This record gives sequence, C-alpha cells and structure tokens, in this order.
Amino acid sequence: MCGIVGYIGQEEAAPILLDGLRRLEYRGYDSAGLAIFDPKDGLRVVKSKGRIQALADLTQDGTALKGTMGLGHTRWATHGAPSDLNSHPHMSEDGTFAVVHNGIIENYMEIKEFLQSEGIHFASDTDTEVVAQLMEYYYEGNVLDTVVKVLNRIQGAYALGIVCADCPDRIIAARKDSPLILGCGSGFHLLASDVTAIIKHTREVCYLDDGEIAELTADSFWVYDAYLRPVEKERHHVDWEISAAEKGGYEHFMAKEIIEQPKAFRDTVFPRLQEGRVVLDDLQLTPAYLAAMDKIYIIACGSSYHVGVAAKYTLEKLLRKPVEVTLASEFRYCDPIVTEHTLALVISQSGETIDTLAAMREAKALGARVLAVVNVVGSTIAREADDVLYTWAGPEIAVATTKAYSTQLALVYLIGLYCAERLHTLLPEEYAAIVAELKEIPQKLEQILSNREDIQFFASIYFNHPSIFFIGRNIDYAVGLEGSLKLKEISYIHSEAYAAGELKHGTISLIEPGTLVVALAGCGKLFEKTVSNVVEVKSRGADILGLTTVSRAEELAKTVDHTISVPDTHPLLLPTLEVVPMQLFAYYVALHRGCDIDKPRNLAKSVTVE
Ligand code: F6R
Repeated sequence: MCGIVGYIGQEEAAPILLDGLRRLEYRGYDSAGLAIFDPKDGLRVVKSKGRIQALADLTQDGTALKGTMGLGHTRWATHGAPSDLNSHPHMSEDGTFAVVHNGIIENYMEIKEFLQSEGIHFASDTDTEVVAQLMEYYYEGNVLDTVVKVLNRIQGAYALGIVCADCPDRIIAARKDSPLILGCGSGFHLLASDVTAIIKHTREVCYLDDGEIAELTADSFWVYDAYLRPVEKERHHVDWEISAAEKGGYEHFMAKEIIEQPKAFRDTVFPRLQEGRVVLDDLQLTPAYLAAMDKIYIIACGSSYHVGVAAKYTLEKLLRKPVEVTLASEFRYCDPIVTEHTLALVISQSGETIDTLAAMREAKALGARVLAVVNVVGSTIAREADDVLYTWAGPEIAVATTKAYSTQLALVYLIGLYCAERLHTLLPEEYAAIVAELKEIPQKLEQILSNREDIQFFASIYFNHPSIFFIGRNIDYAVGLEGSLKLKEISYIHSEAYAAGELKHGTISLIEPGTLVVALAGCGKLFEKTVSNVVEVKSRGADILGLTTVSRAEELAKTVDHTISVPDTHPLLLPTLEVVPMQLFAYYVALHRGCDIDKPRNLAKSVTVE
C-alpha cells in the first residue's frame, strides 16, 4: 500500500526518488519522505505529512539534498496517524540507519517494549521504527548480518529498504509478503515496490521472492536467501511504454483508463481467439481434469470479487459445475471445503493483495489447483499460481479500478469457453455465437463511450443525493455491486447494491421520496421481474435511473425517470457493457463534487496489509 523507491548510482538521488514517488503516489498518499546520504553531512532524512508535492516543496524539488544514494517512501498509514513524525524513512536513535517499509510488523509492540527497557527512545508511533532501532541494537559492524538478525526477530509482512551511514555505497532490501523489485542499469541500481517507479530509468528488473535479501551497489547487486546463501535471479524485461502510466492529456487517470477499455478488451481477448476458438496456451486444464473438477472456488477482494460474482453466474451457466465465490479475507477463516479436484480461480489486478495471496496459499495447501487472473506481470500471485492468465490492460494507476475489471471479466468469458469446449457443455452454435459477440464488444464499448454526455448530464442532476441504491437481478446485480462501489469510493456518497428481489425484505424501508435508485434491467429473461421491483420503489417516491439494452429502452422508459441504454449483446456478456455507464456515472458525480478522483481518501491502490 505504501510505495518504496531507492536509488544508488552517479546522479543526484533526491530528484530521481521524488519522480519515482510521484509515480507511486497512488499506492499511498498521506505522507512521504526521503533519506539521502550526503558525503558531507552523512545520512539526512526529510519527511512530511501530505502529498509528494509537500515533500518536493520542502526539498526544492530534491535539489536541496545532495548525494547519490537514498531511499524514498510514500505512506498509507497503518500504525500511527499520518504526521511528519510517523512518515518514513525512520531512523535509528543514533542516526546510523534509515529504513522504509511496506507491510505490518505484527510483533512490533513486544519489540518496542523490549528496546525501550534497554534505554532506546522511539520518535514515532509506527511499527516500522522497531526495524530501524533493532538494526542499531544488533549492529556490530556488518550490515547484512544485522539484517538477518532483525528479520529473525520480526514477524509480519514487509518490503524493507535499509541504508546505513557506515556503508553509503550500498542499499539493503528484504521482502516477505510485500512486493519488491530491483531495477538494473549501467552504473546504477534501483529498488521499488512497483515497476512504474523505475521504468523511466531501466526496463531490466528482478523480482525479489519471499525470504530474500538483496544488496545493491551502483555497479552490482546480489541476492541472498535468509541464511545469506547467494541466490541466482532471473532478469525480466518490462516491455510496456512509460506513456502507459501517464495521463496523456486526460484530467484524471480514471478517465483515461475508462476510455482505454475498448483497447484493453481487444488486447486481452483478440490474440486468444483463433479461427473461431479460444486458445489459451498458458492454461493446461485437460478434459479429464475438468470432468473430475468438483467445483470452482473464486477468491478475490473488492472489484475483483465483483468480477467473481458475475463469473459465478457465467461459469455455472457455461459449465454446469458449482461455482462458489468468496471474499479472500473470509476464505482463510471459513474452513473452506476444498479438495484436490477443486479449481481455485484467483482474481487480482495487482497480484499483490495480501488477503488474496494468503487465501490462494491456503487453497493450494488444501490441494486445490490455482488459476490466477492477474494484470501485473511478475506479481507474487502470478508467480505462485499453478496457471496464470494475464489481463493485458496495461498499467492501471487510478485507485478505482475500471479497465482491470473489464479485462478480468473478459478472461472469465475465455476461461468459460475454454472449459466448456473440453466439457462439451455448450452446443457448437452457442459457442460460436459467444465468440462472435466477443469480437463485437470493443466496438460496442466505443459506442457507449462516445455517448457519455447523457451520463454526464444525469450526474449533474444527482451529484448531491445523500444516498444512492443500485438494484438488479442475476448478472445485473453483479454489475450493481460494482456500480455502487465505484460511486461510493470516489464520490463519498453512501450507496448500497441489492439484488432487486431482496429489497423488500428490509432495505425498502430506506426508500423515501427523492431517493435515487439506479435500476439495472439488462438481463432479458428477468426484465419484467426487475421492472416490478422498480415499480415498488417508484411508488414509494424514488427517482429511478434505469439501465438496459437498446432493444428494451423504450419499454423501460415507461417506468423510470431517465434511461441509459447499452447496445444489445449476448446475455452473458452484458456486464462488460453495463459497467461502463456505471463507471462514468461515478466519475462525473465525483467530478461535480470536486473529489480527488484518482486518489480517494483513505484508500490505496494495492492493499498489502490484512
Ligand atoms: C476498487 C478497487 C479495489 C480492488 C481490490 C482488489 O475500485 O480497485 O476494490 O479491486 O482492492 O485489488 P486487486 O484486484 O489488486 O487484488
């Protein structure tokens, strides 16, 4: 959730680190800091509550800090409120060590009490500071040995960057359950929690694995296991363009990423459609395995979980196998019924969400085969899964996901078709009809996006509503969940999504004159049923914004106050189209309310704490 960047080389480090932090700001943005080794003044730390700009102002865009080695950090607070003192880097009391950290040191309190009893004074409320103070406590002249002792003492999750005033020619890094990447250049090396921070400088990277420790100098790097035995690391080449992680003239990353959806869908789907068939070369699910498969367990969080809800309807329909969808944070503690015949379908944009990662490991330990749908190449979930299918959505920077959601859905369709072909659960003409419709989706998405003024107009009417409900049945309900989450996370309007038939079992008591209800009624076979539910809330005074397909728009308009329509498509593919007006509605409502759309309060892009 926090962002880490480190640099060691020939150039001034601070401007490079600030630039990296700006690119990482979506990971956490309540405070930021830099630790730079200045050959004249030694290890200097500057940190500040607030956005990266506050840190840039404090350091004159980094020019006030001299030195060619340093660490930077942007924070999403866990232990200790956002403040100057709680910002990273944290220093040991004697100023020998500076530490940046992403994750949570679970036994920090016990360590802190121990160190305090030894006379060490703490400057912050954070869990991270114990790492800096422990480094000082154990240090006898060898930094790597000290790191090993500290790692043996701490429990929890961490990506750590450590620098020592006694050895300014190196940066030490260590990881467990939180991503860390080494960037390799000529005469310099970088450290980062996310490749976006360093791509401007190098495309050659190494992904650290759990339990590994790295030592970086300007000219070289070494990776060790927990016993300091050398580990050979494979280098990877990052091939996306830096412009993919820039706004490119849009006011917000979210707007850019919404608009990019036709391309992202095309990139994810089209190379995998060959001669009318779905070809997933990376997937090795044999007909025998699929026939013996007892169920699919979908595991994910947030919007990825909402893709899972849509996937349950889709995959059960296509495969006639039971599909259970569960929140990753619940999975581990619900004693899940998983066998060696269970396929765990793990969905994660970042591939680093700690709850999803932990649930995936649990599913694996219980014998399931894991198929991961991931956007970030080389992420931990991608590397640990048995099979991985990448969404080729490109980097997603806005905290609220849009194109990752669409491409995750796209892969669900491909997985469904791939398995259905092997299970013989779909007639050839049905299979062909879905493939044909998949090819039409990008152009239909473009059509929706080119008519976005209507949605902008509805947002201008409703942006001040205190509470907004989303209702729908079947996959419309799944899209309603996502529409509601998008709205509340970026506009801060209270919102709930309900299966339309469930509303009258309690929640309808909240409907009063003027309440806005967004009714999703795209699902053809349930259209009349949903309309009945719309009438129920309408007769209690609700304003209704209805969403359906072009062919039913006229019919729906008779009941609702305003209608949005999306092109008709195969019923199973409807969420891909319906979600776009929901994203746009949330975006424009948030815009009218003057919200910080790309960096909503209290949130961070990649949730690497439980
Ligand atoms: C909401 C959003 C989050 C993520 C969730 C899971 O817009 O982006 O709800 O979907 O934190 O993240 P990933 O998919 O990276 O595991």
